[in-house]
Amino acid sequence: MKGQTDMDILRSASGSRSSDLLELRDDELTTTWQDFRLSSMPDLLGALHLCHAVHALATSGLLDRLREGRHSAEDGLLDGTNHRIASNVLRYLALKGVLEEWQGTYRLTRRGTLLTSDIALARLGFYLEAYGPVVQRAGDLMTGEATYGTDVHRSNGPLSRHCGTIFARYYTPIVLEAMRDRGAKRILDLGCGGGQLLVDACLDDPEITGVGLDIAPAAVDVARELASRHGLEDRLEFVVADAFDPTTWPEVCSGAEVITGIGVLHEHFRDGTKAVVDILNAYADALTGESMLLIGEPEPFYDDRESDSEFFLMHVLTDQGFPVHRTAWFELFEETRLTCRRTLTWATAGPRMCFYDLVAQS
Ligand SMILES: C[S@@+](CC[C@H](N)C(=O)[O-])C[C@H]1O[C@@H](n2cnc3c(N)ncnc32)[C@H](O)[C@@H]1O
Repeated sequence: MKGQTDMDILRSASGSRSSDLLELRDDELTTTWQDFRLSSMPDLLGALHLCHAVHALATSGLLDRLREGRHSAEDGLLDGTNHRIASNVLRYLALKGVLEEWQGTYRLTRRGTLLTSDIALARLGFYLEAYGPVVQRAGDLMTGEATYGTDVHRSNGPLSRHCGTIFARYYTPIVLEAMRDRGAKRILDLGCGGGQLLVDACLDDPEITGVGLDIAPAAVDVARELASRHGLEDRLEFVVADAFDPTTWPEVCSGAEVITGIGVLHEHFRDGTKAVVDILNAYADALTGESMLLIGEPEPFYDDRESDSEFFLMHVLTDQGFPVHRTAWFELFEETRLTCRRTLTWATAGPRMCFYDLVAQS
């Protein structure tokens, strides 16, 4: 910084005798601050905090109340909250264009409505709630101060819940289409997460029954709770087991006409292609008769159109293998005792995902 004598000192014309206003100018300091603003860091900070504030709006219950039409403290909008904090978070959200404030009442703006759609909140929850504990430790994971799976864990309950929202809308129709094609009615879902697929399938077709299998007890709890909320306890069972070792699956897992594994296999690319081939061959041996193996895998293009780089970072930090393009899967299937009958995908909707309909070679 230059000495004060080099600075431009502007004496405000409007300054009164008792309180003069001195406006100081220093080109170097001005440039540094302009550089900071140009860096887009202020926008990034705004986005960071806005994500947390929108999440807080949803988890505090205030979003539900706004949707119900409770718009002010008098209508009970702030009941059960710390009024001072909650009302000022609402003011913050109004400043950010998420809410519209008028004489102490709040409503969602159009932008606010879009930001709080089920899909938008599921994507937010996936990164903030499920993977937030991991991202916060990125530095420690990079230096080896912390190890994923030992010191750092993603949050499996929220992961299951948020994946389930996306699943219901975009993946279940594909699975149902693949099952209809085969007339299959009994499903075994490997890495079932919160059980959304099985529940949706049962709600769609009264003849469907199934078993969900997941290594995470928290996910199985979420799944059981979802099934019982829909009165499906007699058609669905959930077990804690290892999806990648069919020899350890409980008896209830046998006899499925379709075995699904959605978003679970790519993590084994961490151990090389052969690890995935071995698991697929174990599945080939577990398939009986005409039963189908339906593998659903994310298909990143790294064009950043669908948050591909965010998705990539989650895989980096959790030390998983990375999802690959369908051409790599086709080459890999060639090395297994499975045949890929067809591939299903949405042309333009939802997170990009391919479903491979596989049968054991006879
Ligand atoms: C990305 S989530 C996918 C969940 C669900 N299939 C979906 O698409 O929404 C991966 C799931 O696989 C489960 N998982 C990971 N390793 C597993 C294993 N060895 N055996 C069973 N489940 C596993 C996780 O607990 C998690 O629920």
